[in-house]
Amino acid sequence: MGSFTFVSAVLVLLFLSPSFFFILPCYGVSQDILRAICSQTQNQEICKRILDGDTRTSSADLPLLSIISLDIAMKQANKSYNTFSQLHGKSTNPTLKSSFNNCVGFYHQIQDIIKQAHNLSMKRQYKKITQLGEMATLAYKCENGLPLSSSTGGVTRDMLLVSQIAASVNLYVSRYVNLF
Ligand SMILES: *[C@@H]1O[C@H](CO)[C@@H](O)[C@H](O)[C@H]1NC(C)=O
Ligand SMILES: *[C@@H]1O[C@H](CO)[C@@H](O)[C@H](O)[C@H]1NC(C)=O
Repeated sequence: MGSFTFVSAVLVLLFLSPSFFFILPCYGVSQDILRAICSQTQNQEICKRILDGDTRTSSADLPLLSIISLDIAMKQANKSYNTFSQLHGKSTNPTLKSSFNNCVGFYHQIQDIIKQAHNLSMKRQYKKITQLGEMATLAYKCENGLPLSSSTGGVTRDMLLVSQIAASVNLYVSRYVNLF
């Protein structure tokens, strides 16, 4: 009876304490971890779909998930960058042209933030990845400088989404990877 109580107590501790969560990453990223990460974003379902959309996710550990989230963010940043570069090139209205030019600059900054985070992630210095939240601010700055009719809302929304995902993934990784 005594040992049964002891085992129960250990099991309860295991499941109630944060240690439960950092046991799991050794064996890869579980669906529970993905759900926990995605619950910190605006749309849990889309977040899971985007992360699962990378074929590496199903067998990834947390360090790889960090890289995957940054690759996804970079792909979208490049896409947005190219969209705004083209709009800038085609635009004849000087005000609009200047606004699109600002967007190109903001997205260049976003690309730099992701590159820097990627470097830190490769070195497993997750606690130093602190700038990902800034990406959403830059994407908003771009969109807010454009007329409502600009039809770039979709590009901006996609960037905001992957920014949140990358920020949430890397915050999670910074909390749980270097503990063991
Ligand atoms: C994004 O663009 C940068 C700079 O133009 C390039 O080096 C990188 O390979 C691109 N990455 C992706 C995922 O498209
Ligand atoms: C990333 O690392 C490479 C090689 O170590 C370096 O040349 C580059 O400047 C770094 N980029 C950023 C944005 O920190």
